[in-house]
Amino acid sequence: MITLHDKTFVPFISESEINQAIKNLADKISIDYKGETPIFLGVLNGAFMFLGELMKNYKGNCELSFTKLASYHGTMTSGIMKNLIGLNENIENHHVIIVEDIVDTGHTLEYLMNILAEKKPKSIKTATLFFKPDAYKKNIKIEYIGIEIPNKFIVGYGLDYDGLGRNLPEVYQLKI
Ligand code: IMP
Ligand code: MG
Repeated sequence: MITLHDKTFVPFISESEINQAIKNLADKISIDYKGETPIFLGVLNGAFMFLGELMKNYKGNCELSFTKLASYHGTMTSGIMKNLIGLNENIENHHVIIVEDIVDTGHTLEYLMNILAEKKPKSIKTATLFFKPDAYKKNIKIEYIGIEIPNKFIVGYGLDYDGLGRNLPEVYQLKI
């Protein structure tokens, strides 16, 4: 059991299970992109650990880029706006693989896909380490899913609770 801020978390997915799932994904992606040089586009902060392990297991040439969706409060609307930062590389005519730590409702992914599509990549696919099928509200196809999990809040392996827990090598879930 671990405590982060005011909450308690219990072990949920082991490091070896996560690493095996990533290896399987990397094998699949290596086959699908054989002869191509895809750009792995990591979505910070959460995807850093997954991306490292994914790339170590990827066989073939590939490139790396990062992006981050920074939230800010727009003055004209009541909602929270998001701004895409980073991504200095030109992705036009390149195969892009978005690398996400987790896809929950899919709002973030949809937003990102819309912005990236304007930059005219040759293709865009998505790899996510974790996926919550019961929370997902979008129709965007997610080609590479590491581990499907129930609609519960998790931390570890890059994922945080209010800034803490990203360094944990295994995944914990909120204790109920
Ligand atoms: P979305 O709902 O798919 O847009 O997910 C938004 C973001 O919420 C993700 O990129 C994560 O940063 C965060 N998130 C969603 N579920 C979890 C979780 O279980 N633990 C930690 N962060 C999460
Ligand atoms: Mg994230």
